Amino acid sequence: MSPSQIKRIGILTGGGDCPGLNAVIRAVAKTAMLQHGIQVFGIEDGFQGLIEDRVRALSFADVSGILTRGGTILGTNNKCNPRKWAIGRNADGSPVFADCTPQCIATVERHGLDAIVVIGGDGTMAASTGLVDAGINIIGVPKTIDNDLHGTEITFGFLTAVATATEALDKLHSTADSHHRVMVCEVMGRNAGWIALTAGVASGSDIILIPEIPFELDTMCEYIDRRVAHGPGFAIIVVGEGAMPKGGSQMIRQIDPTSPDPVRLGGIGAWVAQELAKRTTADVRSTNLGHIVRGGTPIAADRILATHFGYHAIAMLMDGARNRLVVRQNNIFSDIDLMASAGKQRLVPVDHPLVSAARAIGTSFGDVAPAPRASREPSAVF
Ligand code: F6P
Repeated sequence: MSPSQIKRIGILTGGGDCPGLNAVIRAVAKTAMLQHGIQVFGIEDGFQGLIEDRVRALSFADVSGILTRGGTILGTNNKCNPRKWAIGRNADGSPVFADCTPQCIATVERHGLDAIVVIGGDGTMAASTGLVDAGINIIGVPKTIDNDLHGTEITFGFLTAVATATEALDKLHSTADSHHRVMVCEVMGRNAGWIALTAGVASGSDIILIPEIPFELDTMCEYIDRRVAHGPGFAIIVVGEGAMPKGGSQMIRQIDPTSPDPVRLGGIGAWVAQELAKRTTADVRSTNLGHIVRGGTPIAADRILATHFGYHAIAMLMDGARNRLVVRQNNIFSDIDLMASAGKQRLVPVDHPLVSAARAIGTSFGDVAPAPRASREPSAVF
């Protein structure tokens, strides 16, 4: 199909929600409507809306005034892979799956959609496979607070999650200081430590635990004892939900067998707090920010990124792109094969410059014993 034949497109948001989804919807729809006279249709609740034919025409008014709104006006779903959609349960409670690709194709044909802009993470891109195989043109936009999508240096939503986590850590800082306590704060991020690392550095946290760098409790205890005895008397520890002790494994909060990615991580922050309380003299408390880091209005940087991504999605569609994912690499917007990122995760390299910078200023990753500062002042170690 030549670009001039593109008259009607759909938009769907898949996976967990994240700040900036509405900003992308707005940019995609307004660019399509204003620049190309394309009719835009919103698909509700991710691929579920395609299976169940919940598709509605979007007017200009529908996509106006949503730039600053958190969440997604279309709804989303992080359980839906059309090829493996849970349609019920067996007597033992296990899910019954069905391939609902034909229903999706029928919905696309019924509404005469020439392409679908799919806003999602690696799971959502992987879930597009059946539609791509059926000849439907899918244009992907990279979304996730976790910032772990392969092929792009950044996803929208991440910077807002970092800002939210940083604000929370700043607040923990003042109460930790007043009570001379160790505060442990768990943040989301799945198997990647981007949120913990970045918010940890931004908040000046003392210890940052990320999945990519397994930690040792003894090393942490030594750091805390020295900091409590010879330093300011309190400590802030930020823990990515996928962090694990050396030789140990990740803590699982829930298994959802109906989800394409069934593992839900969580609980490591509370466990670390409990172990530190047992092994040190410090007064320890723990907080889990949970879904709070996914909520709320996108910060300015995410509104801008989302607008770039949305505009680029339509620009490349009108340039004849088929099954491509918008990405940003070296600060330049471009695109890669849609499936290049499917099912892959971009983790924090252990020698990432931000890890090195954090280590250089005395931040611990819980893996190596803290080196005393080159100072004559014994109390100036931290
Ligand atoms: O991928 C986004 C994310 O928020 C992860 O950081 C987290 O592990 C997961 O989704 C939580 O999923 P749910 O909303 O199903 O609990």
